[in-house]
Amino acid sequence: MSTHLQTPPFQGGESCANRFFMLTDTDERTRGLADLPPVQSDSLIALIAMVNADQRPHKIDVGVGVWRDGAGNTPILKTIKAAEQRLVDRQVTKAYLGSAGDRRFTELLRPILLGQHADDERIAGLQTPGGCGALRLGFELIAAANPNARVFFGAPTWPNHPPIIEAVGLRSVEYPYYERGQGAIRFEDMIASLEGADAGDIALLHGCCHNPTGADLSEDQWREVARVVAERRLIPFVDIAYQGFGRGLDEDAFGVRLLLETCDEVVIAQSCDKNFSVYRDRVGSLWIKTASAETTAKAVAHVFQIARQMWSMPPDHGAAAVHIILDDPQLRTEWLAEVAVMRERINAVRQRIASADPRLAFIGRQFGMFSMLPLSKEQVMKLRQDHAIYMAESGRFNVVGLSDEQIDRFTAAVVEALDA
Ligand SMILES: Cc1ncc(COP(=O)(O)O)c(C=O)c1O
Repeated sequence: MSTHLQTPPFQGGESCANRFFMLTDTDERTRGLADLPPVQSDSLIALIAMVNADQRPHKIDVGVGVWRDGAGNTPILKTIKAAEQRLVDRQVTKAYLGSAGDRRFTELLRPILLGQHADDERIAGLQTPGGCGALRLGFELIAAANPNARVFFGAPTWPNHPPIIEAVGLRSVEYPYYERGQGAIRFEDMIASLEGADAGDIALLHGCCHNPTGADLSEDQWREVARVVAERRLIPFVDIAYQGFGRGLDEDAFGVRLLLETCDEVVIAQSCDKNFSVYRDRVGSLWIKTASAETTAKAVAHVFQIARQMWSMPPDHGAAAVHIILDDPQLRTEWLAEVAVMRERINAVRQRIASADPRLAFIGRQFGMFSMLPLSKEQVMKLRQDHAIYMAESGRFNVVGLSDEQIDRFTAAVVEALDA
């Protein structure tokens, strides 16, 4: 059987071109879908499947990142219902909106996300299918601009971060972020690692409440990160999906706004799926800042072209509902109150867990939906087996995934595991 290597008819960056070298013997050419190798699914997706398969009525799902109320439900916000009703009554067409999606939606989001930078013409935003869509699009743009850029990400991070980075052909480099045993940020190690990055490399950073460990940077730490990123001429890429779930909308945007102040080039993947509770509607946006309005316009043109190759145009429904809420003073006020209710429950559940045992006290000092318990993989598996408690193998769990009735049962089981 003779084989030879065939070069593709097009050339990309070195690492991308290598992906297209193929064996062209008969076997290779006649491969079909049946020849696909088995897939090891993303650990979070696998966890969701396991929870669904468990028939025990008392099961506790603290894996998936959705907000739940005291009864354990993820209700549709009243403001979303009202906006959707308006859409039904008043929407007159579903004709295409174009690559940028709903432009009024991003215009209304601008001051919420960018604050004092809202009028900066060097910053452009466009609608995407959720925050994950924005992540992929942003990294595709970076790979198009500089295929040699390395992406520095903090460990641990979300399971889909490294695969997205690698799927666009970029190299990922881990920086230490969190010491699980001590419940503390490894800030000096993080800074030392970023100091070793080269100009044009990317620093992937979590916006407020976004870190899977629950450990957010303090304002002083953000200042230090912004200083290093600007000095080393790195491009910060912020993933922010929980604005309003920590202290408030403005407070939670501190890091993003500081980086916009300090750096010429910034990329932001934003999501409304959590703070408008429209997870399945896929509502997000990508924001790009460069040193000039002209360069930003050029980057956006590239982004449109890349999006055209992936999803062509973003879905409208969820963004249209968010647009209606933010454009209506009454609905906007009501939405802010709904965000406050979500935030208050998160913080109340945190306090209840923290007061159960001194070893859990750190949970009360964190913000947002997530935290990471100092449990071994074996302890996490035992919680699954003995108590039908489902959290990530890393010990990451969604604090507000617990209904009121589940909190004490959960903390008792966790304390038992810590004692063992
Ligand atoms: C890494 C990461 N960033 C951002 C988001 C934002 O969420 P969504 O894509 O649902 O808008 C998610 C949600 O799964 C995520 O996994």
